[in-house]
Amino acid sequence: MNGLDGKVALVTGGGSGIGRAAALLFGREGAKVVIADVNVIGGEETVRLVEEAGAQAVFIPTDVSDGAQVGAMVAKAVSTYGRLDCAFNNAGIEQPLGLLSDIPEEVWERIMHVNLKGVWLSMKYEIPQMIAQGGGAIVNASSVAGLVGGPLNGAYVASKHAILGLTKAAALEYASKGIRINAVCPGMTRTPMIGMITGGSAEVERMIVAMHPMGRAALPEEIARAAVWLCSDEASFVTGHALAVDGGFTAQ
Ligand code: NAI
Repeated sequence: MNGLDGKVALVTGGGSGIGRAAALLFGREGAKVVIADVNVIGGEETVRLVEEAGAQAVFIPTDVSDGAQVGAMVAKAVSTYGRLDCAFNNAGIEQPLGLLSDIPEEVWERIMHVNLKGVWLSMKYEIPQMIAQGGGAIVNASSVAGLVGGPLNGAYVASKHAILGLTKAAALEYASKGIRINAVCPGMTRTPMIGMITGGSAEVERMIVAMHPMGRAALPEEIARAAVWLCSDEASFVTGHALAVDGGFTAQ
């Protein structure tokens, strides 16, 4: 299947984990891939892997919490490949686990800046380009923590819930312009972020895995497939939706 032949796909946070898996899948589906990340080594490695798999890719160092950098990211994507059809706004960070009364103000602000403002800024600059072209598709990375609460994770939970509100508002504003905007809500996924979620404790990891009825964490590719599907024409009547890819976590 080469459902994205001739299209251009942007992945923020494409230097690791779910974003890297999505970049590879976008490439396999025929898209030219733009990878944005603060992690230069990771971003360049993803470019290498996408090219090795036979697709075109470019890396644009970008901090998604900085408006000027996000504007430049979209401009560079368009000057490189001529258009922007799909965007997976996936960059995100976890907070150190702790009661919300103990969260330092600067940690709260960093989580909101990267996770929430980063998604808003990405859409702010992606959408005008998509309108100019006559359409496009955007997927924002939320989480099961965007659908249900969880203890010791208040800033992250709040940021991921807010992403769903923003996704719905954006979907409604731009539905008539041919732009579909959805979110994916992964359960625990085997990426470097797991270490942050569990604080490196194998016991905490086992506990969180056990909360998933399927009894395991997702592979990054399983989340990537959902994101790429939502970006594809296969999902042509899906907008404003939060797609849980969570092994049954939120069915309980
Ligand atoms: P990861 O840590 O492997 O990858 C995240 C990437 O985002 C990294 O390459 C990092 O450098 C980049 N990044 C961080 N801050 C950035 C910034 N300011 N600007 C640009 N790039 C930045 O994490 P993973 O697991 O692949 O997470 C991807 C998304 O999925 C995140 O939004 C995360 O919250 C979400 N998610 C992850 C879950 C998991 O269990 N791994 C579960 C639910 C949601």
